[in-house]
Amino acid sequence: MRSLVAGNWKMNGFKAESLELASDLAGRARSGAVCDVLVCPPSTMLSDVGAVISGSGIMLGGQDCHALESGAHTGDVSPVMLADLGCSHAIVGHSERRANHGESDAVVTEKAAAAHKAGLTAIICLGENAAERVEGRAKEIVTLQLHGSLPEGASAANTVIAYEPVWAIGTGNTATPQDVTEIHDHLRGELIRAFGDDGNAVRLLYGGSVNAGNASELLAVDNVNGALVGGASLKPDDFWAIVESGRPD
Ligand code: PGA
Repeated sequence: MRSLVAGNWKMNGFKAESLELASDLAGRARSGAVCDVLVCPPSTMLSDVGAVISGSGIMLGGQDCHALESGAHTGDVSPVMLADLGCSHAIVGHSERRANHGESDAVVTEKAAAAHKAGLTAIICLGENAAERVEGRAKEIVTLQLHGSLPEGASAANTVIAYEPVWAIGTGNTATPQDVTEIHDHLRGELIRAFGDDGNAVRLLYGGSVNAGNASELLAVDNVNGALVGGASLKPDDFWAIVESGRPD
């Protein structure tokens, strides 16, 4: 399956540096990208970054979305607004949203459904924390999160799953290819259980301290269909090295 390498810029990037990063990546993409590439800037920069990457083949995504289309929700961004700015994707259920904003699986499901309704692909994030891994509960946790966060109507065409163990995010402690194989094979089985054959076509991304040095071994794992990249997505050389580790088909 063609890889998807997604950059999650998080709450980083003032105007000048965001535009510089976007135009650097767009220049590289115009000479051809090995796999699909997505950038998810902060919502303040979506419009300007969208203009810079337009025509380069790089796709645009939001880092989160509200479950409703519009209304009295101060500070929130709706999936319809993301689509209106040219986004094709929205990340939902990132562990930082789950932890900092108390988002439960039920909330994540509503957000993913709203993203679908707006015509966006939802990138649903899940992953165990350090204590759960030590207790040997990683598979149990990701299984619960997966089935708890998938809305009605989810399919390979509108849904991507990102396995991001919380202990690996922003810590430099990448999961080993063995850890990743175990969880991704398990998630693939669960996706087939949920969707039948279509479960084979759902992209499964790995995220958590992916960098230029470890991307090729992680992206070579059978059921890893791409990466969700935080810190390294802010450095064009590093991010592009990860893109180049992806698979064309
Ligand atoms: P990281 O973040 O690559 O900085 O670990 C990944 C993510 O949170 O999506």
